[in-house]
Amino acid sequence: MKIVASATALLLAATLLAQPAFAEGDAAAGKELGYTCLGCHGIEGYRNAYPSYRVPKLGGQKAGYLEIALKGYRDGTRQHPTMAAQATSLTDQEIQDVSAYLASIGGDSVAAGGTQGTSFDKAAACTACHGQNGISVNAAWPTLAGQHEDYLFNALNQYRDGTRKDPVMSAQAALIAEEDVAKLARYYSRLEGLETTRPE
Ligand code: HEC
Ligand code: HEC
Repeated sequence: MKIVASATALLLAATLLAQPAFAEGDAAAGKELGYTCLGCHGIEGYRNAYPSYRVPKLGGQKAGYLEIALKGYRDGTRQHPTMAAQATSLTDQEIQDVSAYLASIGGDSVAAGGTQGTSFDKAAACTACHGQNGISVNAAWPTLAGQHEDYLFNALNQYRDGTRKDPVMSAQAALIAEEDVAKLARYYSRLEGLETTRPE
């Protein structure tokens, strides 16, 4: 068991090293800006007004993915009025810094991981990118484990109806059977992982 675990760790390290380098932000510099974000992302169960779903958890999320998401809102490739307003005036440097800050706080349970006794066979189609336990293996891909169920459900439907576009994930979402969308959202939300970010 130990040998298997360390082999997996080595494989993981090799995968991480092979990845395109994300410009590392300065977490300390992103702290002040990050406080404004916690007005929504730091409140347990805080909801988006309409449609009503919970604001995504960012604690333990991958910094590289946070950067991609923020640039998407800023540049208009990802639609959401509130988040577009938040991101519109941010420079690339500020995005890197605030992403590094947000990724650096919370998320202890991401390190722990674990399936919590839950399983769903259809999730096998997702593990290559989102990880065995819903914890992504690439800095540019989101961790799903522990994310709010209603947020995941909404995100999957957005890829499916084209309101949210991504060359990789849109194709994946199109392959999901209608009746499995809610089940996948439920499955990933129940895994040990992301947390609501709290200021230190
Ligand atoms: C007024 C509430 C509010 C504030 C303030 C806010 N956000 Fe958000 N944020 C949201 C909502 C709602 C969503 C979900 C939008 C969607 O469905 O695409 C979101 C989504 C995100 C996402 C995408 C997460 C994912 O899993 O794809 C990131 C990254 C993010 N916010 C970062 C920030 C940062 C950084 C700040 C501060 C500069 C910030 N937010 C401030 C409400 C807020
Ligand atoms: C080939 C790699 C790949 C596979 C396989 C894959 N995804 Fe994704 N997924 C991605 C990428 C890349 C993103 C980020 C796209 C973006 O920026 O919008 C993503 C984003 C998501 C999001 C949005 C997360 C957030 O925080 O907003 C959800 C939900 C999701 N995937 C669920 C799934 C499910 C469920 C499956 C299996 C049925 C799956 N994915 C299979 C690569 C993949």
